[in-house]
Amino acid sequence: MKKVLIVCLGNICRSPMAEGLMLQYLANSPLQITIDSAGTSRWEMGSPPHPGTQKILKEHGIDTSQMFSRQITLEDFYVYDWILAMDQQNLTDLKRMAPKGTIDKLHLFLSVLPESTIKDVPDPWFTGNFEETYALILQALPKWREIFER
Ligand code: 4NP
Repeated sequence: MKKVLIVCLGNICRSPMAEGLMLQYLANSPLQITIDSAGTSRWEMGSPPHPGTQKILKEHGIDTSQMFSRQITLEDFYVYDWILAMDQQNLTDLKRMAPKGTIDKLHLFLSVLPESTIKDVPDPWFTGNFEETYALILQALPKWREIFER
């Protein structure tokens, strides 16, 4: 069983969107995989995904009713095999929090698109553009699938 945790700042816009889309993308894969998401902050603790993220996920037939924001815990660093940061600030924050021996689990979500000049998944909390975020997440999914299937 492979365990993937996707992390952004608030866990209401980008990481729940990526969680829902990755889960759907891998649904027909033989992989035994669990996918969850969390925030580096506790600002939105207990909140459902942002209406913009809910809209995107619902348009793709993905249920958001059981999604609630939570902050990453120290235990997560041991439990998960892959911890994917949506932007470079998230990665920096995660590196600061990571217990010894867990740092190799941390990766930038867009690191699988080395040819891309965009390193950070844009935060629709600030941009208001959920479609742009969706399109970028979608580009990275086949690459992550390849890596998880290795
Ligand atoms: P996210 O976006 O990290 O993609 O979930 C944000 C959500 C909430 C806040 C910032 C970013 N906030 O400041 O509460």
